[in-house]
Amino acid sequence: FAGNVEAKSHTKKQVIAHRGASGYAPEHTFASYDLSHNVMGADYIEVDLQMTKDGQLIAMHDETVDRTTNGTGAVKDLTLAEIKQLDAGSWFNDKNPELAKPSYVGQQVPTLDEILTRYGSNAKYYIETKSPDVYPGMEEELIRVLAEHGLMKTNKLKKGHVLIQSFSNESLVKMRQLNKKIQLVQLLDRNQVDTLTDAQLSELKQLVMGIGPNFRDLTADNTKRLKSYGFVVHPYTVNTEEDMRRMNSYGVDGVFTNYADVYKRIVNEK
Ligand code: G3P
Ligand code: CA
Repeated sequence: FAGNVEAKSHTKKQVIAHRGASGYAPEHTFASYDLSHNVMGADYIEVDLQMTKDGQLIAMHDETVDRTTNGTGAVKDLTLAEIKQLDAGSWFNDKNPELAKPSYVGQQVPTLDEILTRYGSNAKYYIETKSPDVYPGMEEELIRVLAEHGLMKTNKLKKGHVLIQSFSNESLVKMRQLNKKIQLVQLLDRNQVDTLTDAQLSELKQLVMGIGPNFRDLTADNTKRLKSYGFVVHPYTVNTEEDMRRMNSYGVDGVFTNYADVYKRIVNEK
């Protein structure tokens, strides 16, 4: 019995709230994270990182503030104080009138430090180093902020409180050089998964515990191949119920989704 319970808990599919509950609320705002974490009970809050002119890590997908705020310009050319003036919610109301809420107006761009303060060390974070080539020192700053919040302790890392993901292998190598224990996930570009040779996968397994492929590339066979190397497999970004069920049928370990509520319902079905 004990063995069964353990096996079950190890195979629990992880609900990774992609940019928070970004199917319902403006991505990478507290409105979005509150919904995915406090209301939907997703396992992970997914955070994309960019770095400001004054070296602060903020949650934003793009290298510029143009799409998700009322401002313009590259994050690297703006100070945190300047970015804090921006409205990171109204664009969502304009784009999605059927989902618009007055409370989204005036949402601010959160810093990583503010996110970790708000959700604490019991929440789990799936953090992506975005454009690390644009931001020298990003990895060092990330580890410093995580440590300040007690998230670099071995037991927290072991339990998967923090996973670091990147499309940049170089950035993941750097994270490993800075810390031996932190758990890493290699994201793969579209069409990349089937180009990886056995030798490349073996080498990658020395560095990362997981692979994040584009879900459109996954098949039953290549998922099985990745699993045979011992990788955890977390495809992105799976937003329809049909695709979620298909990914589960391949044996993935969870998915990045804008609809954490939908995936959670599916994984909890008896
Ligand atoms: O991090 C997984 C997935 O989010 C990668 O794509 O562009 O949404 O960050 P993107
Ligand atoms: Ca991401």
